[in-house]
Amino acid sequence: MKRIAIFASGRGSNAKKIIDHFESHPTVEISLIVSNKSKAAVLSLADDRQIPKLVIERQQFYQTKVYLADLQNYKIDFIVLAGFLWLIPSYLVDHFPNKIVNIHPALLPKFGGKGMYGSKVHQAVWEAQEKESGITIHYVNEEYDEGAIVFQTKCTLDETDTPDSIAKKVLQLEHRYFPKVIEEILLK
Ligand code: GRF
Repeated sequence: MKRIAIFASGRGSNAKKIIDHFESHPTVEISLIVSNKSKAAVLSLADDRQIPKLVIERQQFYQTKVYLADLQNYKIDFIVLAGFLWLIPSYLVDHFPNKIVNIHPALLPKFGGKGMYGSKVHQAVWEAQEKESGITIHYVNEEYDEGAIVFQTKCTLDETDTPDSIAKKVLQLEHRYFPKVIEEILLK
């Protein structure tokens, strides 16, 4: 079994799709949900699905390796960031080389970097009058949104689009592709 930890702090809609996708999977298991927000919706989902959960705290995350020990105790092989905004510290990147992926709601390298998350991304895409947007799934390194790109797919935009409608189109792509791309990476 490949054991995945999902790190998520927001709505958790991608986390839910990933959990659903791997439910009863023969070789992949969602083994841990990690969040930096004790009230994140994704933690209730973890309870519903009986997946262990871990709430992490900033100082411990950056100044100690206690959470690495937790991940090792859960025998985690692979980490998925699904709406997790903290930069991943180098001790984790080093321990999980090419084994941490993130999803970004735009076509990197455009519209990425520190502070570019959530509605800010779609607002920037809209203001730039882009003709397309999309999703980027990439490996995680010590810089925001800069690891090697694994997968991208696009949606077209037109003048009737708004930041909200762009967000909806992009989220649909995330839900459709993120679980499958994770599976492809894990099974290759
Ligand atoms: C997604 O748009 C993802 O690209 C970004 O954070 C958002 C998470 O949404 N990294 P959700 O919490 O999975 O609904």
